[in-house]
Amino acid sequence: MTDHHPTAVIVLAAGEGTRMKSARPKVLHMIGGRSLLGHAIAAAQGLSPTHLAVVVRHERDRVADHVKQVCPQAVVADQDEVKGTGRATECGLEALPADLSGTVLVTYGDVPLLTTTALQELVVAHEQTASAVTVMTARVPDPTGYGRVLRDETGQVVGIVEQKDADEAQRAIDEINSGIYAFDAALLRSALAQVGTDNAQGEKYLTDVVGVAHREGRRVGAHVLSDLWQTEGVNDRVQLAALGAELNRRVVERHMRAGVTVVDPATTWIDVEVAIGADTTILPNTQLLGATTIGANATIGPDTTLTDMEVGDGATIIRTHGSLSVIGEGAGVGPFAYLRPNSRLDAKGKIGTFVETKNSTIGAGSKVPHLTYVGDATIGVGSNIGAASVFVNYDGVNKARTTIGDHCRLGSDNMYVAPVTVGDGAYSGAGTIIRKDVPPGALAISVAPQRNMLGWVVANRPGTAAAEAAQAAATDEGEGEPA
Ligand code: UD1
Ligand code: CA
Repeated sequence: MTDHHPTAVIVLAAGEGTRMKSARPKVLHMIGGRSLLGHAIAAAQGLSPTHLAVVVRHERDRVADHVKQVCPQAVVADQDEVKGTGRATECGLEALPADLSGTVLVTYGDVPLLTTTALQELVVAHEQTASAVTVMTARVPDPTGYGRVLRDETGQVVGIVEQKDADEAQRAIDEINSGIYAFDAALLRSALAQVGTDNAQGEKYLTDVVGVAHREGRRVGAHVLSDLWQTEGVNDRVQLAALGAELNRRVVERHMRAGVTVVDPATTWIDVEVAIGADTTILPNTQLLGATTIGANATIGPDTTLTDMEVGDGATIIRTHGSLSVIGEGAGVGPFAYLRPNSRLDAKGKIGTFVETKNSTIGAGSKVPHLTYVGDATIGVGSNIGAASVFVNYDGVNKARTTIGDHCRLGSDNMYVAPVTVGDGAYSGAGTIIRKDVPPGALAISVAPQRNMLGWVVANRPGTAAAEAAQAAATDEGEGEPA
């Protein structure tokens, strides 16, 4: 975008988040398939800062582990028992090289909608005006609870006062401190050293750095952000849901603008990392989650949840629940299919109605159309699996695989008792229990001969509707033996 890369971004994530009423640390709650902290880190990473530090304290190990997972190059900084955003920032600085110079950004781990673009604009405004501090601010209808931005008669920012320390006139100010700032590194370090804890909350406030810079005659700027969602933090689960819905609205809109048809944006949920090709249609009540990728010209939904799935161009997936599986080009899935991890359906294949698959490959053009469980199987190309079949993969102790060749025509209600192999071009009859390998081109049948016991119903179920119907139809006719 520009060459304004900050020297460091410090993400504050040491707070407790008590209003979440959760055993899980607040910053690890998820929206859009990513933790709140993950969103903050991703926005920071977009700036390619030289250093990225995350300040932790509450549930320290869980949060630190998560940071290592989502951003291994980030430095985890521990805040000590001194409270406040100022102390948190100082602890972040202490974890970075002592000779740090240039621009340092401070952001929060619980402000998930903030974008790289907004941060970039803050850095540019800060550096172009050669400011010592630039505060990201917003004008809001209800400023209650926020720090207020104090300006002098010329409009220059002179300080920030917290709600709890503000007088009535200050509380009437509607320009709030978002808590996101750009600082000159040296000023930030020296100013923090002068900030105490003499305030209503007994905390070391980062906001006091603004007043220090002003008193030292350094320039303090404000960058007003008009998109209020981007500075909104999560404090409780009501806000979590509201920000999650707004994030989703933005993600869905981005896909629509890129050429995806979304029939009902209100019931379509798309995680931030999902990719969708042009001219794909998403039908109502569909969730595309995790690292899912969908090709072009596909049709997904209605009522479909795909997690970490890869779907090829032109595929159709109707009323399906699937995860960690691959659907080939032009393939068809559902309605009412359940794809468990490591299922692969190749091009133009079919996984039909009431079919469950797991750890199985179904080759190009092969079809499993109805009422079937395919577990631990490899099916070649162009084969057809008859309705109501089961790949019997579990003997009560061990799992085993079934291999089906190419261009097989296998009957309905077959049981494939693994481990077993069916050769290319083989057939099987209805109701076959395939316990032995079937050679290529053979017809497998395992039927016990059927017996028709003539007159059995009239003799054994007299007076029933069945017996009356049988009598009316003259039961002793047809091929069979006496009952
Ligand atoms: C802070 C600002 C306030 C601003 C508001 C915006 C200060 C003193 N006040 O207030 O001006 O309007 O944010 O949301 O900075 N944190 C730590 N360590 C701490 C305390 C907080 O890491 O000791 C982190 C929290 O995890 C959170 C962020 O800093 O991510 C803000 O903390 P919070 O307690 O929500 O600050 P506010 O009182 O809301
Ligand atoms: Ca807050």
